[in-house]
Amino acid sequence: MRIYSKIAGTGSCLPEQIMTNMDLEKIVDTSDQWIQERTGIKQRHVVREGETTSTLAINAAQKALDAAGVTAEDIDLIVVGTTTPDLIFPSTACLIQNVLGCSGIAAFDVNAACSGSIYALSVADKFIQSGTHKRVLVIGAETLTRMVDWNDRTTCVLFGDGASAIVLESSNEPGILSTHIHASGAHGDLLNATVGVSTGLKNEPNGGLKIRMKGNEVFKMAVLTLGRMVKETLKANGMNKSEVDWLIPHQANLRIITATAKKLNMDMDQVIVTVDKHGNTSAASVGLALDEGIRTGQIKRGDILLLEAFGGGFTWGSALIKY
Ligand code: COA
Repeated sequence: MRIYSKIAGTGSCLPEQIMTNMDLEKIVDTSDQWIQERTGIKQRHVVREGETTSTLAINAAQKALDAAGVTAEDIDLIVVGTTTPDLIFPSTACLIQNVLGCSGIAAFDVNAACSGSIYALSVADKFIQSGTHKRVLVIGAETLTRMVDWNDRTTCVLFGDGASAIVLESSNEPGILSTHIHASGAHGDLLNATVGVSTGLKNEPNGGLKIRMKGNEVFKMAVLTLGRMVKETLKANGMNKSEVDWLIPHQANLRIITATAKKLNMDMDQVIVTVDKHGNTSAASVGLALDEGIRTGQIKRGDILLLEAFGGGFTWGSALIKY
């Protein structure tokens, strides 16, 4: 009998502090109208001093554990999608494990930028399917505002902070039907962080760490690739577009989300949209949208969910799930 991973519970956490488009107008040469028209973003949550990727993640994880009706002791693996770890090491997963108090179980980070949520979900699903692990805590958590260049209007208006968590459980019933992950390192120069440990930090504010993106080119690639991704996912499961109840996309830009929904012939009321409130929270975004859909009662048990993401690397991925 096939072993599936089933979503037992979800949770999320957003920092209390909100930065609106009007707040950004005071920092860079931009306007609320431009940001809303080009991206759909109205506001984003921004960490305060003392808040980190792991503090947000721990909060989200606790809510997911509560929703699943389990405790940290019932978890046998932690996988964290993040590109903004608290530290280079220990990994964010180890920091989270320490606070949750489930010492001894395996815990590691996955860096796939904005596709981190799908990559982490895919890795966790494989562990459960192999039969070695029964209950996995899958987290997507980011503090991208810590590496945003607040002088660069082409990027600083896009990103926000947050964390999401999913408890995945082994089950004989579906479950995650399939996951699909891909990458193209050849496009790394279109979207990246400018410095790293091995290449060396610079003698500049924040060590020279900034997000750089050729937005227009990333936009075109994202729309094209996500369209192909949707086809690949449905084909692998012998399913039609009409069988998908909910599209739960990475929340980078409302125009990208709308284009993907159109390719699926889906109305926007079948799409969970949070980009207006959260901005792009990278690896946290798909899980944040999933949690919102579940907690608002829109997503119901038995619904077919299509999760997808695209991000720096380039990386991209999808998951088809019977909730
Ligand atoms: N406020 C006002 N004007 C801005 C601006 C801002 N925040 N940012 C850019 N502009 C200007 C540009 O300078 C440019 O001006 P010009 O025509 O005088 O040169 C104009 O707006 C258009 O810029 P462009 O980059 O072509 O806009 P766009 O329609 O492509 O929108 C993004 C920019 C970033 C919103 C969009 O390209 C995007 O969302 N890209 C993909 C992001 C993504 O999916 N990332 C993947 C995962 S992280």
